[in-house]
Amino acid sequence: MINDALGSLSIQAVCKTYPGKGQGTQAVDRVSFGLERGEVGILLGPSGCGKSTVLRMTAGLESITGGQICVSGRQVRGPGQDRGLVFQSYTSFPWLTVEQNVAYGLRINGASSRLKEGVVQHYLNAIGLSRFRQHYPDQLSGGMRQRVAIARALANEPDLLLLDEPFGALDPETRQQMQALVLNIVRKEKMTVLMVTHDVDEALYMGDHIAFLSSHPGRLREWISPGFGHETAAPDRGSLQQKPAYRGLHERIMGMMRDESVPI
Ligand SMILES: Nc1ncnc2c1ncn2[C@@H]1O[C@H](COP(=O)(O)OP(=O)(O)O)[C@@H](O)[C@H]1O
Ligand SMILES: [Mg+2]
Repeated sequence: MINDALGSLSIQAVCKTYPGKGQGTQAVDRVSFGLERGEVGILLGPSGCGKSTVLRMTAGLESITGGQICVSGRQVRGPGQDRGLVFQSYTSFPWLTVEQNVAYGLRINGASSRLKEGVVQHYLNAIGLSRFRQHYPDQLSGGMRQRVAIARALANEPDLLLLDEPFGALDPETRQQMQALVLNIVRKEKMTVLMVTHDVDEALYMGDHIAFLSSHPGRLREWISPGFGHETAAPDRGSLQQKPAYRGLHERIMGMMRDESVPI
């Protein structure tokens, strides 16, 4: 059966209240947006505005208090292999080699080992880790370990890739390289991505769409589609940042970040 909805994401009036004293904490209030297959969506907003909560609900790791989320047309009711997840902290298994980490939990369980090996090799190449396949994570730099985590999520060929500040712990140079690398791979594989960040440049560089959340509770303040024309591959950062439209949007979003931020 051909599934037209494959790789699509639909978030409809989603709410989240964490239990607690009194009424609890309302973290997310009626957030709605959607992505089509192959699009990169960004959840952007100040710290504590509910970005990770929306992502974890989409992953099925957090219960949904109201509304619904559909991935590939199917309602999310719990975790599933149709979604791949990468967090900020390195999540590789230290006792497995790079290759074994990437092969871990492959969706094609039961498929021939040759097929599996092909998939693992493909993503190790894509992410530039082939030479290190026999290494253990503690023999790698932070950036390389994070690449292992990303390769593992990609090798599972999820319909939707969920990234929660995946480059947050990396130095600026590595971070920029990783943004381009991941963007090139997901464009090539036509993978849909939902990524959390609070970095405006990262959002503008990677996003087809940006869901800007206001804080306490998280509401969709604005749906921005930057449209800097990078549908096929990672854009050149220098020329992108020179564009008046980029600079104007950057300034406007920074202003939104400032007025949503809670003074410390
Ligand atoms: N497990 C939890 N229990 C109670 N409150 C939580 C929990 N996780 C997050 N929150 C609260 O929900 C709000 C949104 O958190 P989060 O989604 O982590 O924000 P962000 O990722 O945008 O920084 C915050 O006020 C946070 O304190
Ligand atoms: Mg978060």
